[in-house]
Amino acid sequence: METKIFKVTKDSLDILQEASKLLNSGELVAFPTETVYGLGANAFNADACKRIFLAKGRPSDNPLIVHISTPEDAEKIAYTCPLYYELAKAFMPGPLTIILPKKEIIPNEVTAGLDTVAIRCPKNEVANKLIEISGIPIAAPSANSSGKPSPTSAKHVYDDLNGKIPMILDGGDSEFGVESTVITIKDDILTILRPGSVTPKMLEGVSKNVQIASAVKEELKANETALSPGMKYKHYAPRANLYLIDDRYISFIEYVKQKQKTENCGVMCYDEEISLFDNKNLLPVGKKKDIKKQTKKLFNLLRQADDIGVDTVYAHLPSDDGESLAIYNRMIRACAHRVIGGRNGKD
Ligand code: TXA
Ligand code: MG
Repeated sequence: METKIFKVTKDSLDILQEASKLLNSGELVAFPTETVYGLGANAFNADACKRIFLAKGRPSDNPLIVHISTPEDAEKIAYTCPLYYELAKAFMPGPLTIILPKKEIIPNEVTAGLDTVAIRCPKNEVANKLIEISGIPIAAPSANSSGKPSPTSAKHVYDDLNGKIPMILDGGDSEFGVESTVITIKDDILTILRPGSVTPKMLEGVSKNVQIASAVKEELKANETALSPGMKYKHYAPRANLYLIDDRYISFIEYVKQKQKTENCGVMCYDEEISLFDNKNLLPVGKKKDIKKQTKKLFNLLRQADDIGVDTVYAHLPSDDGESLAIYNRMIRACAHRVIGGRNGKD
């Protein structure tokens, strides 16, 4: 199958109509969102959704997020509650996914047999317009091959899915760069299953009861059931072995300089550190304090590590609070919890 890429804005109505036709006829379309690129299918069409799993090589027990163009459209597919609307008022459209009890109309293929459905109303104007024009909710995971870092550009999608899908809408680089914050609501308690750009503190502005699922920071125990199936898969990983260095206990610069003498390694250093290393295989992440920039660059850098063909990559252990929690969560999983130095040191 030939994969066509079209540059789009929300005003590219002809192209969006074309994409909407494909979606309504059961085909897949990759599209930009403010978080990462999504691989969309008609959420009412079980066969179309099965194609998503095939194209990505995604395990069939990992459910999809359903995208809608206004928060009220959730009524068609899920049982809402007052807290859903309070959250929607604060964060939708935007990078928040809320898990609600599902209605019959959503096929089991979308929810992997669960009785809940994940709902997200994207802010990206192309995504939102595409859903509106299509007139259907769109099931969409991140548009990467399963296990690879999520795509933050149309090129990333093309690199992974060329020949497997008919159309990619290119809306430029993703604004945030990590996937949406995923939460559940139970008895007025919000639990974060996956951290994103909507932070715990921002959620506390709506409900005082905000919890973070243990699997966000820690490894899932052997006999523990994942609250979100996505928690149990190795994710975001480059081919190279990634190690995080806890520089509260060990000097990042000295440790990595030593490794550079004997290893073909990539170095995810802060911009301020660039001049301290020789120029080989540096993957600067942004300024130390610029968490937004670091978030935006993260997945591109993990892909770049593979492009330059290093065997190992060294990076700073990110802080696990505030805006940085989303980076921590992705990095700790990408490195399979290999942290050098520090309390949780594994090396
Ligand atoms: O930003 C995003 O959320 C992007 C864009 C495309 O919207 N989508 C995305 O989808 O990241 P995906 O499939 O890569 O991640 C969805 C996560 C998975 O970890 C999945 O297990 C979880 O959400 N999930 C989906 N439905 C669920 C449900 N009913 N209960 C618990 N977790 C669910
Ligand atoms: Mg994904």
